[in-house]
Amino acid sequence: MSVTFDFRGRHVFVAGGTSGINLGVAHAFARCGARVSVLSRSQDKVDAAVDALKQHGGDAIGFAADVRDYAGTEAALKGAQARFGNIDVLISGAAGNFPAPALGISSNGFRAVVEIDLLGTFHVLRAAHPLLTKPGASIINISAPQAFLAMEMQMHVCAAKAGVDMVTRVGALEWAAQGVRVNSVVPGPIDDTEGMARLAPTPALRQATLESVPMQRYGTKQDIANACLWLASEAASYVNGAVIPVDGGWSLGGAISMGSNMRKLLASGAP
Ligand code: NAP
Ligand code: COA
Repeated sequence: MSVTFDFRGRHVFVAGGTSGINLGVAHAFARCGARVSVLSRSQDKVDAAVDALKQHGGDAIGFAADVRDYAGTEAALKGAQARFGNIDVLISGAAGNFPAPALGISSNGFRAVVEIDLLGTFHVLRAAHPLLTKPGASIINISAPQAFLAMEMQMHVCAAKAGVDMVTRVGALEWAAQGVRVNSVVPGPIDDTEGMARLAPTPALRQATLESVPMQRYGTKQDIANACLWLASEAASYVNGAVIPVDGGWSLGGAISMGSNMRKLLASGAP
């Protein structure tokens, strides 16, 4: 289901907005009339996303940058502001993940995920803050159930996303007086995404994941986009510091099984 909101004339910046869930969010805002900026590492992905976003009839711009690099991230945000004006909606969703037991994660592997997800989120919010519309801006961090559910094979992601939700909460406290709201959206297992391709790579794991969702279905990118549209709208003007699962009830417990299923798959010797 697609929800209609009016974001004409608004500037929406999506960090990590060139594929998967975040690109779905960017498309939803573009469909509602927003001017959309996206950032990710790959110039090819950036170019393809910008072309696709322009198909909705509005304008879009993209930047190739790594959120681990503060200067590059800041330059992208400033470039976006120079083109489309102050940022009304800031989505921070760049992330990295791979399944591995704690003892199979090197120092560099742990660092890579924490630096993309957590440090990257700090960089995006820190560099964007002077460029936000005040009052009125809405910041949405894309989190994960790993932020509050201990999951096997995910020590790095659990640590990083728990930090992301604390960035949300402290930002919500510090910036509320300026009229800037900060919230997290926590997707469940979303169909046709890189994340699920990595965490449920076989038909059996895919089926087990589906059965672990109380609503017995995968989420869609539109499900997450709908939550972001609402959070960024006037309809959510009193929602601040919230961590909102959009997951069919998965984070009530079922999500935990994904880690142990992954461990059993690797133990079975499957590729
Ligand atoms: P995805 O398609 O791989 O999206 C990740 C995006 O981040 C891509 O645009 C990627 O583009 C960009 N990115 C990665 N590292 C980056 C870096 N260092 N600097 C800048 N950009 C970077 O994955 P997805 O599965 O849709 O996940 C999107 C978000 O949803 C993530 O925050 C993830 O944790 C969250 N989530 C996903 C699921 C799920 O079911 N898939 C569930 C819960 C939460 P480049 O490769 O060009 O950099
Ligand atoms: N198991 C264990 N360690 C792994 C791994 C795996 N499956 N995949 C990568 N690593 C390790 C690497 O070996 C390396 O550690 P080392 O230097 O000690 O060998 C470390 O992680 C960093 O890998 P590298 O490829 O150099 O990092 P990167 O910055 O280029 O990529 C990743 C970051 C690893 C997170 C990469 O998977 C990525 O870019 N992901 C983005 C897309 C994504 O994950 N989407 C889903 C989002 S939910």
